[in-house]
Amino acid sequence: MRRVLALLVLGALSLFGFLHEPAASKLVAAPAPPLAYPDVQPVFAKRCAGCHDARIGNNPAAQAVFEMTSYPFATRRPATLLGDLRRGFETRTMLTPAEKALGLKWLAGGGLDADGKPPRWR
Ligand code: HEC
Repeated sequence: MRRVLALLVLGALSLFGFLHEPAASKLVAAPAPPLAYPDVQPVFAKRCAGCHDARIGNNPAAQAVFEMTSYPFATRRPATLLGDLRRGFETRTMLTPAEKALGLKWLAGGGLDADGKPPRWR
């Protein structure tokens, strides 16, 4: 009988410990940090730089929309660029589904820069 009681107490204690495990509850509750430009930079480098990066080539029409030598981009349309980029990611068939999803997730989060701040276009 004593043994059974001891086992019951031990069981209750370990259950208590399990429920109150702080590391485990943090792991479940922590929200994913929003995406920042370095997360999507490889997609821009691979899919957009050919026309939108002045270091690679001169393309005034493309680079008036955005020029990606550094982020926040240089642009002639600061008021609408985030929305224009979203449409660009939604409609461009050259993007893989994963690239599209990554870009749209970054844009939905506000197109944050490397410091996690909203872009102030150049
Ligand atoms: C082959 C060259 C080329 C590539 C690659 C390219 N663009 Fe462009 N893009 C252009 C040109 C040129 C314009 C300007 C078109 C105009 O003025 O009508 C443009 C315009 C845009 C616009 C503005 C469209 C509008 O609504 O008026 C967006 C947004 C855009 N590009 C996004 C992108 C993104 C994002 C990528 C990479 C995923 C990309 N582009 C890759 C050439 C390119």
